[in-house]
Amino acid sequence: MPQPLFITFEGGEAAGKSTQTRLIAVYLAWQGYTVTRVAEPGSTRLGSRVRRLVKYGPMSITPLAETMLFLAARTQLVEEVINPALARGEAVVSDRFADSTLAYQGYGRGLDVADLRRLNDIATGGLLPDLTVLLDMPVEASVQRRKPRDTDRFESELPGENDRASDQSFHEKVRQGFLSLAQQAPEKWLVVDATLPRREVSRLIRARVSNL
Ligand code: TMP
Repeated sequence: MPQPLFITFEGGEAAGKSTQTRLIAVYLAWQGYTVTRVAEPGSTRLGSRVRRLVKYGPMSITPLAETMLFLAARTQLVEEVINPALARGEAVVSDRFADSTLAYQGYGRGLDVADLRRLNDIATGGLLPDLTVLLDMPVEASVQRRKPRDTDRFESELPGENDRASDQSFHEKVRQGFLSLAQQAPEKWLVVDATLPRREVSRLIRARVSNL
């Protein structure tokens, strides 16, 4: 049976995660893997409901309630999809995973990062990725790439053209949070400049994955 492989992609809004997860899935399939591609929150029935609530739910959601929703979606995804796929020796590629909670709800919303690590640990049963790819990009670049018609709760916190520099703080904190997580465990993370051409980003990711 092939060695199972678990790769996660993280980053801010509009960093190109879905394109790059698709490209690496094609590469891994070409290497002989059966590949399961998932996105958080989502990829289960519960996850899809949670996705709609946290992205477009019209009601106010406190940071802790928001965290619990992401964790509920994550634990369902791990038990229902990720663990069974890894047990079959597959490669699993996930668009976001536990580090998004540390960056958004921890560094971004200000919840205690050590508490969030413990909650993540419970939700995932201690499952950790073999590699996390951070698609890093300045917040201003996200603003420019964002499709204005499809603004969700998180994107609505991106600064607009007329906002003061201080309004950038939520997404700037999230970005710095991801960079700090990557710095704490460089052997587990690959940080890629997401403003590079798509093909170059993909080449850098493939080079690191082929070393795993
Ligand atoms: P996306 O999949 O389009 O990036 O949307 C997911 C949104 O949810 C994105 O703004 C990041 C946010 N999010 C969190 O705040 N915490 C989490 O744990 C996860 C998985 C996503």
